[in-house]
Parts: sequence; structure tokens; C-alpha cells
Amino acid sequence: MRLAIYPGSFDPITKGHEDVIARAAKLFDQVIVAAATNEAKRGLFSMEERVAMLREVTARFENVRVVAFEGLLVEFARRQGAVAVVRGLRAVSDFEFEFQMALMNRKLEPAVETLFLTPREEYTYLSSRIVKEIARLGGAVDAFVPPPVVEALRKKLRIGGPV
Ligand code: PNS
Repeated sequence: MRLAIYPGSFDPITKGHEDVIARAAKLFDQVIVAAATNEAKRGLFSMEERVAMLREVTARFENVRVVAFEGLLVEFARRQGAVAVVRGLRAVSDFEFEFQMALMNRKLEPAVETLFLTPREEYTYLSSRIVKEIARLGGAVDAFVPPPVVEALRKKLRIGGPV
């Protein structure tokens, strides 16, 4: 049974994340989407809200579970018995941070490999941060996030019209 962890802030999940989850679910027997409390980022959505959206969006994948975690990712991965950590790599700008994280995680736990998956090219410019900004300013985000997230953004930002 080969298990992978797909960690992230998911504040909120985008179609790019969804695409990476679909790819990981094909490659591994089981995937745990791990929503992390990121100390460097103040979230728009609470952990409960992020997990609820992730669960709704990933419900169609039989081998995907959603879990919230705190603390070190590699500790969590070890406890779950994961062989890999999956991360999406969109553009060169992601590379430095991802490279640093992958090598640091390897130093902390050599048994866990980091695997980079590339989302569909139409999602390479997507990020949760930019989606929140567009939604906040009244732009349409339905092309970028799954339907439950469009609704959640509308409620959270108290926007009446199309988000
Ligand atoms: O979606 P993000 O914000 O890019 O995800 C970053 C995340 C949550 C994967 C990263 O911050 C993380 O792994 N946090 C858990 C704490 C940890 O292990 N930090 C050391 C990483 S080298």
C-alpha cells in the first residue's frame, strides 16, 4: 500500500490543487490531503472551513482522505506511513521555496521522498492568494476554484453578485 501526503495551506483549494490531487490519486494507492496550519500565513478560512471544502471537492476520489495537521510535515508523514510528499510545481518562481523545503524535509526524514507534479498549464498562474484578491475586488473566480469554494468565498466576503 503506497501512501502519499499532499500538504498545503489550501486557503482555499483551487482547481490547480484539485488537478494535482487527481494526478496523485492515480499514482498512489492512497493520498492524504493534509491541511496545515501555516504560521507565516494568516488564513481567510478557518481550518474547519478549509477541511470541509477539501472534503467536498475530493469526495469523488475513493482513495483520497483529508486530514488537518499541526507540527512538522515529515513527522506527520512518518506517523501515517507515507512514502512520499507530493507538491505541485507551477513555475520557476515556485522552485526555490520548493527545493529548499524538499531538501530540508529529506534532511529531517530521509525515508520520505518529495515528488513534484505539474498541474494543467491553464492552472499554472493560479494561486489561492490571487484568487482571494480577485474575489475580494469583485472579480469572477468560478474558472479558478471549484463550485463549493465560489460559494464559500461569496459568503465569507459578503459579495452579492457573481464571484
Ligand atoms: O500551500 P503552502 O502554504 O505552500 O504549503 C506549505 C506547507 C504547509 C506544505 C509547509 O509550510 C509545511 O510543510 N508546513 C508544516 C511545517 C513544516 O514541516 N515545516 C518545515 C518545512 S521544511
